[in-house]
Amino acid sequence: MSNSHDSNAARDIASLMHPYTNLDKYPETGPVVMTRGSGVYVEDDQGRRYLEGMSGLWSASLGFSEQRLIDAATRQMQQLPYYQIFGGRSTEPAIELADRLLAMTRPFGYDKVLFANSGSEANDQAVKLIWYYFNAMGQPAKKKLIARVRGYHGVTVMAGSLTGIPTNHADFDLPVDRVLRTDCPSFYHYGEPGESESAFVDRIIGNLEALIEREGADTIAAFFAEPVQGSGGVIVPAAGYFEKLQAVLRKHDILLVADEVICGFGRTGHLFGAQTFGMRPDIMTVAKAMSGSYLPISGTLMTKAIYDGVVAGSRKHGVFAHGVTYAGHPVCSAVANEALKIYEERDIVGHVQRVAPHFLKRLHALAAHPLVGEARGVGLIGALEIVQDKAARKPFDASAGVGARIQAAALENGLIVRSIRDAVAVCPPLIITVAQIDELFDKFERALDAGLEHARAGGWVG
Ligand SMILES: Cc1ncc(COP(=O)(O)O)c(C=O)c1O
Repeated sequence: MSNSHDSNAARDIASLMHPYTNLDKYPETGPVVMTRGSGVYVEDDQGRRYLEGMSGLWSASLGFSEQRLIDAATRQMQQLPYYQIFGGRSTEPAIELADRLLAMTRPFGYDKVLFANSGSEANDQAVKLIWYYFNAMGQPAKKKLIARVRGYHGVTVMAGSLTGIPTNHADFDLPVDRVLRTDCPSFYHYGEPGESESAFVDRIIGNLEALIEREGADTIAAFFAEPVQGSGGVIVPAAGYFEKLQAVLRKHDILLVADEVICGFGRTGHLFGAQTFGMRPDIMTVAKAMSGSYLPISGTLMTKAIYDGVVAGSRKHGVFAHGVTYAGHPVCSAVANEALKIYEERDIVGHVQRVAPHFLKRLHALAAHPLVGEARGVGLIGALEIVQDKAARKPFDASAGVGARIQAAALENGLIVRSIRDAVAVCPPLIITVAQIDELFDKFERALDAGLEHARAGGWVG
């Protein structure tokens, strides 16, 4: 068993470049090689089992052994493993998926969906659609995009520019121009001493209005927002934020794009995060849970007004000259169709609503732990803010490695959680049961204790 692990590790280190990894240190640590999955658990090449508390990358909503998704892929592979949808070609799975997505998002009234492969591409093409639309509408000056501190929209040149996380920019020569940065709506991190939550929201919305006035509303096309900012540290927006934000955007004719790549399909306790937070986005981007993440597929949904503008542009040029080879890939679409059927037939949103109170109760109970400055979450996504000093909300110096120790201790305990910045995030498959939620938090608590021991040993806490 460990022979096969040693061989895997050696070949991995020799050949595989890992995304989001400290490439310098990686040869010393090597990989955890996953070989199988069952429900909310995965198993590595040494036979160790882990409760996957992050659903992979906030994504494997239906766990790791959903036979219906496997069967849907097999059937479609046998019938038509690939075809494309450029130039009016189409396939039944892509048609069905577009139809289903529009039906599921009916409260938002979208008219069309444009498929791609990843969340980054869905956001990238949202930007292109917006530029194309405003050009067609005779407003070519409307080009700038507003995105937030701690926002995460992916890593392609444009989506990476919208992302508001410094390490995604440093030495990648990002962001490109046309991106304006505005506040993150985390009251815990950015509220001032003595400031109420609603005064905080008024202040950051005031900052946004000032930014719009400085730049000129006629130069600003759209505002990109995740309902809950995931990779930025699981930021649940301050109360009333989206309502006030949207009033400003409407006043200045600025489109709202909801990046539902994490929040979409039940994560926050409603089908879409936009419903949880009362958003009325003109464009919505979806990926990850759309196919349970068994195969890569994403989509950009748009209103009729935007689609009509894009049609006008296409009329002018004789073609809508955009699209990727695997757009609406029939096997990915077939799997996504099956996932969307499962959400409906098994009432996955209802399940999330039933188990989320227990998840959030266990999460919030950890706020009492000496290392936890804030416990925050909604639905089945949450995070613990790890601090050196609770009262001062002071994080540890990164060199203390407390978050990394918690993540590693969790792994030793058979739990996968993710240390991001000063927080440790948890985002389990939506099918998790109450007993598994208890297992998750029992292990999480032990990992926190190991983090505390580490912090004490290093002399960072008393
Ligand atoms: C909110 C959000 N948008 C976009 C992306 C990018 O998706 P992908 O990694 O599929 O390009 C992610 C990935 O985690 C995400 O969390």
